[in-house]
Amino acid sequence: MNKITIAIDGFSSTGKSTVAKQLAKHLGYIYVDSGAMYRAVTWFAMQNNIISKEHFYIDKLISNLHNITISFIFNDSLGFAEVYLNGKNIEKQIRTLEVSSFVSQIAEISEVRELLVKQQQKLGEKKGIVMDGRDIGTVVFPKAELKLFMTASPETRATRRFNELISRGDKVNFEEVLHNVQERDYIDSHREDSPLIKAEDAIEIDNSTLTLDQQFQKILQLVESKLENCK
Ligand code: CDP
Ligand code: CDP
Repeated sequence: MNKITIAIDGFSSTGKSTVAKQLAKHLGYIYVDSGAMYRAVTWFAMQNNIISKEHFYIDKLISNLHNITISFIFNDSLGFAEVYLNGKNIEKQIRTLEVSSFVSQIAEISEVRELLVKQQQKLGEKKGIVMDGRDIGTVVFPKAELKLFMTASPETRATRRFNELISRGDKVNFEEVLHNVQERDYIDSHREDSPLIKAEDAIEIDNSTLTLDQQFQKILQLVESKLENCK
């Protein structure tokens, strides 16, 4: 059967990565979390005193981009690929609220986007890929056979993210998580370069009231009918 490219875009905490991982496993495709790549660059900037609450040295970030190597290595026990920065596993470090508070500023920089989009396109050269992010159906894979655009209410999304952070042992309060979700929605949707918008040919899925399983079953039906058409 021909392999296809599946592009999943949408707002933060809409369940993109969860369903992308489920689909990749079910289909035997690779899964790439493009947000992890923006988070990895953010982590690099935080570690190198390029970004903090007080400053953001954009030129320093741009001139250091050649020092950033991002890779994904499949973890058998987790069942998905973890992200590495310059050979170091940073999967846990990049999921904090602090990284989330800087990442949208980093993702506005065109030089960063250019570098990461090239790598993402290379990963998808052979198809058989599920990638989630903000510009996958519009910029990275504009010819993807299946494009999904995920939404849910901000409160639902913040509750999901809050529960996730608390279960990891992070000390956060609901208000700051909600603020971060809304702030990133705004910056990501209003930036000049590759803003978060629904591709014309994307199918919108509001999963505010869907469980993980209901969401997976609904999307799997879309994938199966697409695969049937692409035979
Ligand atoms: O998991 P969550 O939805 O909260 O975010 P993520 O997918 O890890 O993405 C983190 C941030 O990276 C987003 O808020 C965007 O600012 C940026 N991003 C982007 O600009 N383009 C992408 N393709 C993926 C992420
Ligand atoms: O990748 P994205 O930021 O869009 O979301 P995610 O990391 O897949 O999901 C964020 C959290 O919401 C996870 O803890 C999911 O289990 C949860 N979720 C849920 O409970 N119900 C859904 N329909 C979708 C996601």
